[in-house]
Amino acid sequence: MLSTILDHVRVQLNVDAACILLFDPQTQLLEFAADAGFTTQALQYTRLQVGEEYAGKAVLERSVLYIDNLISHPAAFQRSPFLMQEGFIAYYAVPLIARGQPVGVLEIFHRSRLEADRDWQNYMETLAGQAAIAIDNAMLFKHLQRSNAELVLAYDKVIEGWSRALDLRNKETEEHSRRVTELTVRLAERMGIGRTELTHIHRGAMLHDIGKVAIPDSILLKPGPLTDEEWTIMRRHPLIAVELLAPIEHLAPALDIPRSHHEKWNGEGYPDRLAGKDIPLAARIFAVVDVFDALTSNRPYRQGWPTKKAIQYIKEQIGIHFDPHVVPVFIDMMSGQA
Ligand code: C2E
Ligand code: SIN
Ligand code: SIN
Ligand code: FE
Ligand code: FE
Repeated sequence: MLSTILDHVRVQLNVDAACILLFDPQTQLLEFAADAGFTTQALQYTRLQVGEEYAGKAVLERSVLYIDNLISHPAAFQRSPFLMQEGFIAYYAVPLIARGQPVGVLEIFHRSRLEADRDWQNYMETLAGQAAIAIDNAMLFKHLQRSNAELVLAYDKVIEGWSRALDLRNKETEEHSRRVTELTVRLAERMGIGRTELTHIHRGAMLHDIGKVAIPDSILLKPGPLTDEEWTIMRRHPLIAVELLAPIEHLAPALDIPRSHHEKWNGEGYPDRLAGKDIPLAARIFAVVDVFDALTSNRPYRQGWPTKKAIQYIKEQIGIHFDPHVVPVFIDMMSGQA
């Protein structure tokens, strides 16, 4: 973008060279950003304080600074040993101001005297104003992108925290969420799922049982089978998750797993009694991993099963609980690491 601005400056103002220094509000320095029309690297290492040299002075005073003949101002060449070789005569430093704040300075160089009439000057100031707005917009966009990236990171930390808190409460399922998440993402990759969707799957898997925060300890940690009444409460956990997470727009694409991880291929799962491919793919993939992990882990109501027995059970449930296309990929993945 800066190159485009400089090309315009050179063509429209008919000058030999121009460069832009950008103002960094953090360091309060003017730093080289782009140039056009130079035969050397004269100004590429420029770094000025506000008030320093002509460019810094123009920014400090917020007014255009003009030198008609650089040769009679030898101080101008202290900035770079190459500047003398360029043979410049005329010089302008134009402060770039947007929304009342300096964003940089435009420097214009010409190898002969400039016939700068009123129109030329007006035009120069118009170009500088446009450049300042363009730079300011680009900076705003950059900051916005950074804030967004920071926000996403913060969200993911919060998700991790919730997920760990739930695992801690479940006691015997400690680390369950992290483990099933890792396996689910690997399985989803093998199923050919793309990167964006994998991110949603990662978040959804971390949060799959978050609805259990609303299940009383007397049910969640019960050392035996659940009564019908207790089952009714336990089976609410997927919809409780949706209620908890629905207001968070960022997590909307991650809700398939929390909502649908207890659906079954044959339509006898909960909460929506979906069947076959009506169940979101992410949830069909996740269900295999979740049940495998549950079976091989200790529960308050039973000891963990050996891996072999769990795999056998998963195979028996093809077409009943699980998607026939997912199970073979899972078995293949698990045999690879055994
Ligand atoms: P979870 O312990 O994380 O188990 C996830 C899923 O793994 C279960 O969903 C079920 O499909 C499968 N699974 C787990 N353990 C076994 C098992 O011993 N045999 C078989 N065949 N499948 C098993 P489901 O059944 O919808 O259960 C949801 C949640 O309800 C469980 O999460 C657990 O927190 C709770 N729960 C299930 N059964 C009992 C129980 O007998 N006693 C208690 N206290 N809680 C239970
Ligand atoms: C797993 O969660 O990946 C397997 C756990 C186990 O076999 O104990
Ligand atoms: C779960 O809700 O993720 C597992 C339920 C079970 O252990 O049966
Ligand atoms: Fe669950
Ligand atoms: Fe689970």
